Amino acid sequence: MIIEAGQVAVVTGAAQGLGRALAAGLLDRGVSVALADTAQERLRDTAEAFTAGGGQVLPVVTDVADAAAVRALASRTLEHFGRVDVVVNNAGITAHHVRPLWQADLEDWRRVLAVNLLGAVHGIRAFVPHLAAAGAGHVVNIASLAGLMAVPFGSAYCASKHAVVAISETLRAELDMMRLPIGVTVVCPGYVRTPMTEGMVTLLQAGDDTQLAERLPAGFSTEQVEQVRARLEGMVTMMEPDVAAERIIAAVEADRLYALTHGDVEDSVRRRVEGILAALG
Ligand SMILES: NC(=O)c1ccc[n+]([C@@H]2O[C@H](COP(=O)([O-])OP(=O)(O)OC[C@H]3O[C@@H](n4cnc5c(N)ncnc54)[C@H](O)[C@@H]3O)[C@@H](O)[C@H]2O)c1
Repeated sequence: MIIEAGQVAVVTGAAQGLGRALAAGLLDRGVSVALADTAQERLRDTAEAFTAGGGQVLPVVTDVADAAAVRALASRTLEHFGRVDVVVNNAGITAHHVRPLWQADLEDWRRVLAVNLLGAVHGIRAFVPHLAAAGAGHVVNIASLAGLMAVPFGSAYCASKHAVVAISETLRAELDMMRLPIGVTVVCPGYVRTPMTEGMVTLLQAGDDTQLAERLPAGFSTEQVEQVRARLEGMVTMMEPDVAAERIIAAVEADRLYALTHGDVEDSVRRRVEGILAALG
């Protein structure tokens, strides 16, 4: 769908990072934006900054893990703006612990699935009926490259993002079968410079392998820690959030189901898909 002035978007996790950059990109195009986040003060500050820049925003403190709160977000958005065109399910978290799957913390699993997967499900349940009634609109689900490839020691995050890809593909198929003209884009970014990733960048830039080892599963050898460092070093050259946001908006306008913002890391995805296809024999 073409993004244009007069439309209304909802962005979850909009108080910082990629969500904030997406909201800024939409506001630049004259779109009014409902900003949802759990971080009350940061949300207020973000809304004030956007308003000072001339943007039309509605900050709504919302926990996407809470279905009723997301339904209330839909009601508030419609009451305030009278329409909704684009829904961006962006809010996401990582696990507290970096552990192999058999030692993973179950509370981490529950938290990550509640926000990353059910948060998107709640957004779809609350908003798609309104898009369907209007006969137009677009759903954007922010997954990750972790939704297309394995992430050692990040099983819960990886599973949640694979699930976001799966529900986006399912939603696309359902809308097609029901002939509902609503767009779906699932976004699979590589590393983006946001508060979510800044801790790891600081750690890598400090160059201290002892601190890095403390973040890794117990029992890693010095050589294994060095291998992890080498693998993570690419993060330091991560994408800026406004660049990622522009690529996402371009994918929405091109009505693309998949948006892979980072061309340079597609090889890992290609290897996985080729591995699966090779099993066809
Ligand atoms: N930064 C990256 O490298 C990267 C890469 C791939 C995918 N992603 C995905 O992009 C999305 C945004 O990530 P980011 O890097 O901007 O993260 P971030 O941590 O910098 O910002 C996330 C925002 O979401 C909010 N939030 C957290 N839980 C929430 C909840 N339950 N309800 C509502 N809001 C909530 C936080 O308060 C915060 O403002 C996430 O889904 C993340 O998984 C990020």
